[in-house]
Amino acid sequence: MSGHEKFNFKNKDEFLAKGSSLGAGIPFSDDIGALFEPLTVAGKRLPNRLAIQPMEGADAGPGGAPGELTFRRYQRFAASGCGLIWFEAAAVTENGKSNPSQLLLARNTLDGFRRLVEKTRNTARKSLGPNYSPVLILQLTHSGRFSKPQGAPAPIIAQPNPYLDPRPKLPLDFPLISDQELDDLQEVYAEAARMALETGFDGVDIKACHGYLVSELLAAREREGSPYGGSYQNRARFILETAQKIRVRVPEIIIASRLGVYDAISYPYGFGVDRNDPLRHDLSEPKAIVRRLKDIGLDLLNITIGIPASKPHYGRPFDKPVSGAAMPDEHPLTGIARLLQIAAEMQQEFPALPVVGTGYSWLRQFFPQVGAGVIKSGGSSLIGIGRLALAYPDFARDLMDNGALNPKKVCLTCSGCSELLRAGQPAGCVVRDKRVYQNR
Ligand SMILES: Cc1cc2nc3c(=O)[nH]c(=O)nc-3n(C[C@H](O)[C@H](O)[C@H](O)COP(=O)(O)O)c2cc1C
Repeated sequence: MSGHEKFNFKNKDEFLAKGSSLGAGIPFSDDIGALFEPLTVAGKRLPNRLAIQPMEGADAGPGGAPGELTFRRYQRFAASGCGLIWFEAAAVTENGKSNPSQLLLARNTLDGFRRLVEKTRNTARKSLGPNYSPVLILQLTHSGRFSKPQGAPAPIIAQPNPYLDPRPKLPLDFPLISDQELDDLQEVYAEAARMALETGFDGVDIKACHGYLVSELLAAREREGSPYGGSYQNRARFILETAQKIRVRVPEIIIASRLGVYDAISYPYGFGVDRNDPLRHDLSEPKAIVRRLKDIGLDLLNITIGIPASKPHYGRPFDKPVSGAAMPDEHPLTGIARLLQIAAEMQQEFPALPVVGTGYSWLRQFFPQVGAGVIKSGGSSLIGIGRLALAYPDFARDLMDNGALNPKKVCLTCSGCSELLRAGQPAGCVVRDKRVYQNR
């Protein structure tokens, strides 16, 4: 296995040489025009292929309504010029919050969400003209085993998991969320979708990734004697029935899902893993689920992999891990190649379904060329940008105006934003936006 290295390329040739010496097979196109081809998603026209990925800011105000820093983040994203803004994980229940300052979508926070959507749309128009209207998706979540509504772990689990239980130190007989609670939770998601439409979002994402409750259910092979556990049909039940309820009750809304298609923990506890080798993915179940979701009316798919609590570098390749975490024995380009290849496998299975790809921030000023290469080769329809957007929110604008990114403004993948989030602090870029985030 190739060892980890920091980003250290002075120019494109050095970058490409490293990629080929690793055999990474990362697409690359000097012509970045493909990023600015419009795309239609569920009848809505996106002006380009750039998307902001969902990123929790842990900066909600009282009751889980968007706070001052939430407004600031989305105004900065709105001014960027991206075709799609995928709003961060908003909890659908108080006990499913990942930290006390996570957004909570509920009747008493609706006004705040409504203002957030309005301000985002107004800022977008002011910045890029009256016809610029990015598609806005809200991610709906229940944090499951990672719930910390009061700041201390208060796990809600679908099945025991020896790979993830040691962290909150759960006993073997820790109670599981009941079938009745899961039935009720489907209703809560459907109601949340209705509220999201009321506040002006174009769509909702049934978040099913990173080990949170809905993704844990996809791998709940050890949840015995439950209609939500064991067989593939049972494990897929929650997401499919929830999508169906949303489609029937809120027919106008875009249904999206951020799907973790490869958990990278051993069978039977991981979703999308090869039965005999957790280091290999097996996308047959993820593909089967997407096929069913498409029949129900899935409009948009966002592909991610890994569980941050287990292998953070799988989903978020970095130069430096969060403090206390081990440095991975893998070159970040190898990790990015894995992410791109898996997203491409999903996109190629469903060529007509817009797929958002993930994992571009480590590439810094080369992400546009890689993104354009990915689109041209059919590897995904949209290029999703996470941490780099916190560091450099006007990246899309710079690309439009100058055809290139400014290397002095890119994300350094130092994990500072992840550390803030882990500590339950408002999350943002501690390097490029240090006036706001450095001393928190
Ligand atoms: C501070 C922070 C918060 C995040 N919050 C979310 C979230 O709310 N929902 C989600 O699906 N992913 C979340 N992620 C993961 C990102 O969406 C993205 O997948 C990841 O950062 C890799 O993309 P990048 O290399 O462009 O940063 C978060 C990442 C960071 C750094």
